[in-house]
Amino acid sequence: MPAIVGLSTATQRLLSELTEELVALEAGGLRRQLRTLEAVDGPRVRLEGRELVNWCSNDSLGLSRHPRLAEAAASAAAEWGLGARASRLLSGTTRWHRELEEALARWFGVEAALVYPSGYLANLGALGALCSSQDLIVMDRLSHASLFDAARASRATVRVFRHHDAGHAATLLARGRGARRRLIVTEGVFSMEGDRAPLADLAEAAQAQEALVYVDDAHGAFALGRSGRGSPEAAGLSPERFLYMGTLGKALGCQGGFIIGPRPLIEWLHNRSRPFIYTTALATPVVAAAAAALQVLEEEPHRRLLLEARAQALASRLAALGLPLAAPSHIVPVIAGDAERAVAWSRRLWDRGIWAPAIRPPTVPEGTARLRLSLTALHTEEHLDALIDALKDVLPRVRSSELGVRSKSPATPHSALRTPHSGSGG
Ligand SMILES: Cc1ncc(COP(=O)(O)O)c(C=O)c1O
Repeated sequence: MPAIVGLSTATQRLLSELTEELVALEAGGLRRQLRTLEAVDGPRVRLEGRELVNWCSNDSLGLSRHPRLAEAAASAAAEWGLGARASRLLSGTTRWHRELEEALARWFGVEAALVYPSGYLANLGALGALCSSQDLIVMDRLSHASLFDAARASRATVRVFRHHDAGHAATLLARGRGARRRLIVTEGVFSMEGDRAPLADLAEAAQAQEALVYVDDAHGAFALGRSGRGSPEAAGLSPERFLYMGTLGKALGCQGGFIIGPRPLIEWLHNRSRPFIYTTALATPVVAAAAAALQVLEEEPHRRLLLEARAQALASRLAALGLPLAAPSHIVPVIAGDAERAVAWSRRLWDRGIWAPAIRPPTVPEGTARLRLSLTALHTEEHLDALIDALKDVLPRVRSSELGVRSKSPATPHSALRTPHSGSGG
């Protein structure tokens, strides 16, 4: 038996550096910790022995536990096994992958679609295959981390425009006229703000300069638009005007990401998208479940209508509390400002049976730590009542009794839940 070798000096040094960093994160209220769910029943969860209402799930249409999805996954698993066994270009493309991609293309009314194992990889894979050091990416400053990572990894020049400011985006595009390709990159529905990109203005700005617009519609796809075709449809535009990305892990309740578009675009991704080529294909049962989710959505459009109605109801209750929202959405930021205050609010809500974690930098910009409430079609009027009662209680109490002295920018009920535009700072 070889002797068990202890930690090397280099490893010991690394661990002590990391421990120090973790202590510093803790001191700033920025240390993150995993929470383990013990049971899920709609929006109700058991977490570390407590029954709570979950306000931080992206299962916006409540499909993740739909029996049809479970049946589809179980039958694909029985017939095909769990893992896809290989990457897509080897033997990882099953008829399920094909069928899902065809169904996604039909859903959005485009020629083709390509599924990735996650939305993060779809962003990385699409921007990486389309852009290089000769290109310019102009991004909304509040874009998701995966978009920033993808833009940086592509080696394109990256410039950032003020949140929602199509004029600023146009100026940055114009300054980069020498680039081979120029792209505006935005989210459809912003994941931490809940507000919608001005897609018509961005499309116009891009068209005037023969640039492209890439839309990450992780939170809009299937949830928005008259027939669930996402943010472009909600804005009265065809998805064909955009390079369009969505996820299977949010409104569809499954896992994975996708790009849709004309066939040459998708075939280019087959050939050049490294996060598509060099990874094992999305597991077959998940693919089958996503295809079933699309069918369920065709048959049950009321889920989307319910989500919209609940978002309106939540917005009007918040307005009645003196906390108006710019636009009702299924994502509602409650801005605390500093991270410690957000954590304290979250803890108080937890004590009242509400799970709304604090979202802190670097996920959101410095000084905009917040609670992010994610509404789903499964939340009932009673859940909304309980949330509003708890917010009424928690926001002022935490403000005055716990953080009055330490906080740098004490929140008032009005500033506590800032409208997305004023909160973004630009
Ligand atoms: C806007 C946005 N883009 C991309 C992603 C990544 O998607 P996925 O969770 O499927 O990797 C997310 C989810 O976290 C998101 O909110």
